[in-house]
Amino acid sequence: MSSSKKLITCLSIILVVVLLCTQSVHSQLQVGFYMNSCMLAEFIVKDEVRKAFIKDKGVAAGLVRLHFHDCFVRGCEASVLIDSTASSTAEKDSPANNPSLRGFEVIDNAKAKLEAICKGVVSCADIVAFAARDSIELTGGVRYYVPAGRRDGRISLASETLTNLPPPTLNVDQLTQSFANKGFTQEEMVTLSGAHTIGRSHCTSFSNRLYNFNGTTSQDPSLDPMYAARLKEQCPQGSTDPNLVVPMNPSSPAVTDVGYYIDILANRGLFTSDQTLLRSPETANQVNQNARNPMLWRFKFAAAMLKMGQLGVLTGNAGEIRTNCRVINS
Ligand code: HEM
Ligand SMILES: *[C@@H]1O[C@H](CO)[C@@H](O)[C@H](O)[C@H]1NC(C)=O
Repeated sequence: MSSSKKLITCLSIILVVVLLCTQSVHSQLQVGFYMNSCMLAEFIVKDEVRKAFIKDKGVAAGLVRLHFHDCFVRGCEASVLIDSTASSTAEKDSPANNPSLRGFEVIDNAKAKLEAICKGVVSCADIVAFAARDSIELTGGVRYYVPAGRRDGRISLASETLTNLPPPTLNVDQLTQSFANKGFTQEEMVTLSGAHTIGRSHCTSFSNRLYNFNGTTSQDPSLDPMYAARLKEQCPQGSTDPNLVVPMNPSSPAVTDVGYYIDILANRGLFTSDQTLLRSPETANQVNQNARNPMLWRFKFAAAMLKMGQLGVLTGNAGEIRTNCRVINS
């Protein structure tokens, strides 16, 4: 890297750090919200995440995605945690979440511990936000302060996931629109997509790219043929096994690094929604920049997660503090 480029990278990192430290000032949420009411809250969540991560590194990815899927549907108010009832199918049972979403038991364990020491104080929505932050740190991303004070919602509808969560078939314009609907810039969309540097995907989320792409060609020509061949071995055509999964960034599936962007540059983005980022000059430029500036991306990612964590939050007297994260209080 030339020295002027280094200087620019360095200045950008400083700018992002300043943003990270000041952003909470403008929100209704507060860093250290539980300092007086439940001093150990963040520590207990972190301890549960760490214990689960030691047993299964994949839970970190699960918890980051859980926060995303919570925040994009009705805001970060833990609607994603609510179980379906006889009369209502909840978000977690929509195809966007079931069977792929994971990490629920980590939230349940943290909540049980917190109810035991500070009954009715810590919201499920804050636990999810803390757990996502801890997961990013544990996998080698940048640690950030999570402003808290979110309260829990009382509604969860599977139908609302369809309109709010982007499917993996979207192209770059559709992704940009989907994130703009939540107040994000195109650059933030590219930054947040980098979360796909950790975790796994079920074969069903991308098998169309291998076997029935379109009327002319069965395999997506934008997918590296060597990688496609490997994916076909891991995901046989017509298999309906819901347990078949592949890592999204095979070289380091449990590290929050820029492997996602490096994969895309090698035509090894797993989803259409990943590989499509090379289709517009602006997003392609972002992919390049992130691939070359691992620390800059980590800071931008932390800042974007912080912003995502404030979407549609309930504060003050709105909502409730759920006793059991899976059921609304009666
Ligand atoms: C840009 C639009 C996005 C699309 C279309 C998308 C789609 C998907 C899909 C289809 C999967 C695989 C699910 C499965 O079959 O198991 C997945 C996994 C994942 N997504 Fe996204 N996603 C997007 C953005 C995000 C964002 C913004 C985040 C977080 C900030 C995120 C975090 C994750 C993580 C961590 C996983 C792995 C989950 C695990 O291993 O359990 N995604 N995503
Ligand atoms: C199928 O995709 C290829 C490659 O993107 C394209 O050239 C072709 O026109 C597409 N065919 C149809 C029927 O859409």
